[in-house]
Amino acid sequence: MKYVVQPGGQLSGSHRVPGDKSMSHRAVMLGALAEGATEVTGFLDGDDALATAAAFRDMGVVIEGPTDCRMIIHGAGLQGLAPPPGSVDMGNAGTGMRLLAGILAGQPFDSRLVGDVSLMKRPMGRVIEPLAKMGAVIESGSGGVPPLQIRGGQALHGIHYDLPMASAQVKSCILLAGLFAEGRTSVTEPAPTRDHTERMLRGFGYPVDRVNGVIGLDGGGGLTATQIDIPADVSSAAFFIVGASIAPGSDIVLRHVGMNPTRIGVINILTLMGADISVLEPREVGGEPVADLRIRHADLHGIDIPEDEVPLAIDEFPALFIAAACARGTTTLRGAAELRVKESDRIAAMAEGLDTLGVENEPTPDGIVIEGGTLGGGTIRTFHDHRIAMAFAMAGLRASRAIEILDCDHVATSFPRFDHLAVQSGLKLAIG
Ligand code: S3P
Repeated sequence: MKYVVQPGGQLSGSHRVPGDKSMSHRAVMLGALAEGATEVTGFLDGDDALATAAAFRDMGVVIEGPTDCRMIIHGAGLQGLAPPPGSVDMGNAGTGMRLLAGILAGQPFDSRLVGDVSLMKRPMGRVIEPLAKMGAVIESGSGGVPPLQIRGGQALHGIHYDLPMASAQVKSCILLAGLFAEGRTSVTEPAPTRDHTERMLRGFGYPVDRVNGVIGLDGGGGLTATQIDIPADVSSAAFFIVGASIAPGSDIVLRHVGMNPTRIGVINILTLMGADISVLEPREVGGEPVADLRIRHADLHGIDIPEDEVPLAIDEFPALFIAAACARGTTTLRGAAELRVKESDRIAAMAEGLDTLGVENEPTPDGIVIEGGTLGGGTIRTFHDHRIAMAFAMAGLRASRAIEILDCDHVATSFPRFDHLAVQSGLKLAIG
């Protein structure tokens, strides 16, 4: 499936983008491990989170829905998972695989994790190493990629682990394994990363502390079912925030967006670039900050992106690169080597697409330098990466010619019905 975006247009109206992907994965996992029935609303019915739900169904957990983004998870308790009948297929979901590896490392049964072509190339050594230190036995493909063969029946023990990279997936994997470990499990991170695991564990009544930057929990507790209202995903909202910022005449409201401080780097960076973003009615829903956002077009200017914002905007750089391409002057990103191991090598994929549109750019090992200017048109390769597809769709708002975007099926991993919402809000997008 491909998108063809005609040049021009502006974004308007009041919209709600789908539920947060990170929280949807975690809601299924913790709901499945809890005692009792957890009700989840605002669930992301995208392929990634559905793969996580399917994995737990395979392990005997009864999950009703999602129907209209509502699901009921009948928790099996921490010791209640059953052996899956075959390999567990996590599709495109790095979060699903890395977090699940932590849970499976503590089970009495063997398991095997696989994924799609993109996931089968992604580094898993970063979770295998700390899990092995906890006593887990895991084999991977050569070079530390999936499939992961996890041997059950190992007695895990708590460790302290200094994360070598700012990764919420690695942090969460270790903390989830810690639920099954003897004693205390703790981590430090080189920079703060999204803290949904910590917040949601507390929501399920499991104590997690953070003292002087050390995040820790004691094994052997229990999770109690709860009610979770998942806000709209700020990472999905990001495409519309950028689209409205770059397209003259735009004025859009995005409702009920998750505003967790560990996720709003995109808003901070765009604000530094001169964007006009108002945060309306900030409130707290189920332990997570939420707000409506109003975004109006603004003349953006290039900046040196502060490195401490990088982990807080790690999924939003494809969209931010489009903002930089439309900004006056130079935008420089450093300290973002992690972008090279996402669903695609996002620095290389974006650089290629920007070249196609005639935007001057210079990729570096850990970032990119982008000269703002005019955008042409042409054919974009997405490398089966949802966020590359959606970023270049928004570029159409400022392009001088049509943009054809190949292989857009993966958009459904995080943003089902993106094309409908994009058209409804003013993008001139058609399915080719
Ligand atoms: C995620 C963490 C980030 C992010 C991913 C979701 C999570 O990955 O890119 O989309 O839900 O924990 P890393 O931990 O690899 O930075």
